[in-house]
Amino acid sequence: MRKPIIAGNWKMFKLISDAVATATALKPLVANANHCEVVIAPPFTALKAVADRLEGSNIHVSAQDLAPEIKHGAHTGEVCGDMIKDAGCSHVIIGHSERRAMYGDTDAVVNRKIRAALHFGLTPIVCIGETLDERDAGNAEKVVATQLAQSLAELTASEVIRIVLAYEPVWAIGTGRTATPEQAQQMHAFIRQWIAQQFDATAASDLRILYGGSVKPENISDLMRAADIDGALVGGASLEAESFSRIVNYEW
Ligand code: PGA
Repeated sequence: MRKPIIAGNWKMFKLISDAVATATALKPLVANANHCEVVIAPPFTALKAVADRLEGSNIHVSAQDLAPEIKHGAHTGEVCGDMIKDAGCSHVIIGHSERRAMYGDTDAVVNRKIRAALHFGLTPIVCIGETLDERDAGNAEKVVATQLAQSLAELTASEVIRIVLAYEPVWAIGTGRTATPEQAQQMHAFIRQWIAQQFDATAASDLRILYGGSVKPENISDLMRAADIDGALVGGASLEAESFSRIVNYEW
């Protein structure tokens, strides 16, 4: 059985005080959520303070990115995986569509970042997904397959099992336009089948594939009923403890 993951991506929001206040408010609201793993991804500056506040709780802390390098060195502005671990994180988001679109994170960079995360024992949450033009042209599966092939290049099946994938159609992020559970299920099933073909059946059946893009308390239950959706990566609706806790505590 795949344990679902509900992850909140706070993007470039919240000063340290606000991040700690939100984490503090969230703690009791999700304390009984044993049905899933709960993850929040504050900005770099708040990671340590949030992780300290959540110590001993069932909430895991994730970074939103990491350096592709595994050795400390002259890489101004970059944050190494062991620094992220040192701040109290267990997870790291890699290849979010905003990083791909705005900061040059190609599939090759994503591949190096996945390796760096695995090297340091961090769980990578690897984002993939097509744009609206690509979907309208009938190329959604082809685009996702290419992202997977290049992002997961030369990884072994046992490494792939340690990854979490997040299918986030770019047209659904921050737009209020969620993929229907059927659209999402179709792509998740495609991804799982692709993993089975390229790696093995165990990797495919164990791999957790999250859906992301305008997930809200109102649509999480329908999404979670789909056979191949193993959780959600939530942006906007994760910023408030109350709404994120309603997503974590979805009816199932
Ligand atoms: P959203 O963002 O929930 O605000 O659409 C999702 C994401 O970017 O991970």
